[in-house]
This record gives sequence, structure tokens and C-alpha cells, in this order.
Amino acid sequence: MSLAHLRVLLTGATGGIGRATARELSARGAAVLLTGRDREALEQLARELDPDGDRHGVMPADLTDACERDRLAALAIDWRGGINALVNNAGVGDLRLFLHESPEQIDRAIAVNVTAPMQLCRALLPQLVRLSEAHLLNVGSVFGAIGYPGYATYCAGKFALRGFTEALAREADGTPLRVHYLAPRATATAMNGAAANQMNDELGVATDPPERVAVAVCEMLEGSRRRAVIGWPEKLFARLNGALPGVVDAALRKQLPVILRFAASGRQRPAAANPIVQNPRSSLS
Ligand SMILES: NC(=O)c1ccc[n+]([C@@H]2O[C@H](COP(=O)([O-])OP(=O)(O)OC[C@H]3O[C@@H](n4cnc5c(N)ncnc54)[C@H](OP(=O)(O)O)[C@@H]3O)[C@@H](O)[C@H]2O)c1
Repeated sequence: MSLAHLRVLLTGATGGIGRATARELSARGAAVLLTGRDREALEQLARELDPDGDRHGVMPADLTDACERDRLAALAIDWRGGINALVNNAGVGDLRLFLHESPEQIDRAIAVNVTAPMQLCRALLPQLVRLSEAHLLNVGSVFGAIGYPGYATYCAGKFALRGFTEALAREADGTPLRVHYLAPRATATAMNGAAANQMNDELGVATDPPERVAVAVCEMLEGSRRRAVIGWPEKLFARLNGALPGVVDAALRKQLPVILRFAASGRQRPAAANPIVQNPRSSLS
């Protein structure tokens, strides 16, 4: 189905999933307002997507800065008569024990993964609700439904984003605004460093190409589907964790020694000072 009627503000457009999504949206005819922090990368992407025209726009912005976010929202409201879709895709996340997170890392993760999408949505909602068709799509994660060791701060943010999206979708019931939440599983992008990739390999966790997520984004924007999780067995585990979390506790307990080994590999405190790494069972079970 063509998405030529869509004018999409896409955050995180310079990242792995963002670039693939920009390409897929462009291939399906949408006009995309690309944002990230790197102007040069954004301009290069816009040229790649439409070498001879000016269908796509770029606006660099640090989404943790309220003024830059407001400027971005103001542009989006005007751009090509106003956007009719917002895809909140920008995100940060690292494999790291919570014990090793700095206060600044926690603040930054919540600012990018929760505050920024909520505030962008708040700024753009008055424009979106006036239209006969509009979309808000938040890119969450399987870790927005499963608390996974080594990702406590990331999980906190994605759980929050999922709750926000669900509540807003219910608020918008009966209106032309379609609110979607897409939860990818592990995806091959720069977000996952060497330790995360090695851990996933050792645990047999499947990793998708970003193009798979991009197609899922476009398919959601074509319809009114509210929520989707990419991949088995992640779909099943996300549901199971909601209904029978003890079963998932037991499954993750088996993976824990491997997770702790990789999560602690970039630690900021010596292992000797880390009782969780020394004795995972007694500390975490
Ligand atoms: N990769 C995975 O395994 C995976 C799995 C499930 C869900 N996801 C979700 O998918 C989304 C995209 O992730 P990805 O894998 O494509 O990651 P990525 O390649 O690291 O890209 C992250 C994007 O977010 C942008 N960003 C980060 N901090 C920002 C800030 N302060 N202001 C503005 N933009 C900022 C980056 O832009 P800059 O160029 O400015 O850095 C970049 O475009 C995220 O929401 C992530 O949580 C990823």
C-alpha cells in the first residue's frame, strides 16, 4: 500500500532502524522530515532518498534539549502543510549492570527514551487531532514488556513508553488519530555493542536486520493496528511475562550467569566490589 499521503516526522533518522525506516517510508511514497543530532548525516540521507528532488526535509535537534525540541515541533507543524505522522524512534540503551550506571546515564536514558517522545507528542498532538487521519508510532522494545537483567534503566524507559502509548491510544479511541506501539527484538544496529552481540550469540537470541523493523513500521502506519511485537519466541515471552512472570523469572535465572558476565565486562567498579557479579544466585534470585 502506498504511504504517499503521509508527511512523517521521524526521530533517530541517522541510526540503524531510523535509516532503514526512512528508506522504506520514502520507497512507499511518504515525505519524511528527518531528525537526529548530526546535520551532515541527515542531509546525506535526504539526498540519498531523493537525489533530484526535495521531498524530504532535515532538522537537526538534540531531543533532550527542550528549546531544540520546541523548534523541531514548530517546524513540523508548518512543514509541507504540517506533518500527519510522528514516529518516535530515537533511543539509547546499553548492556550494563544497574550497579554500574552513573546518575547521568540514568537521566540521559530517561530523557531520550521517555521524556522526549512524550514531550514531542504533547507539542504535536493539537495539530494531529485536527486531521482526518493522523498517526503516532512509538518504537518501544521487547524489553518494554520483559524486565531483562543488564538493561534495568532501558527497561524502565521502554515500560514507561509502552504505558504512555497504551493510555494515549485509549484516550484517542473513536478519533482519527491512530496510536501505535511497535516492539522490536534485538536488531543489528550500533545500539548493540560487542558485548551485547556476543551475549546474544551465546544465548541463541535472534537478531533482526533493521529493514525488518522498517517494514513493520510502515505496515503499522498503513492500518490501525495498535501494538506489535516482532519475532518469536519474543511475542510469547512478552505475553507470558504479563500473565506468569514467575515462569520468565525461572527462564532468565538460567541465562543469568552469561548475562552477568557480559553486562559486567564494561564495568566501572572492580569485580571485587560487586557482590552481584561474585554471587549472582544469592543476590538476584
Ligand atoms: N537495536 C536494537 O536491538 C533495538 C531493539 C529494540 C528496540 N530498539 C529501539 O529502536 C530505536 C532505534 O534504535 P537503533 O537500534 O536504530 O539505535 P541507533 O542505531 O543507536 O540509533 C539511535 C538514534 O537515536 C538518536 N538519538 C540518540 N540520542 C539522541 C538525542 N539526544 N537527540 C536526538 N536524537 C538522538 C541517534 O541520533 P544521533 O545521530 O544524534 O546519535 C540515532 O539516530 C530505539 O528506540 C531503540 O530503543 C532497538
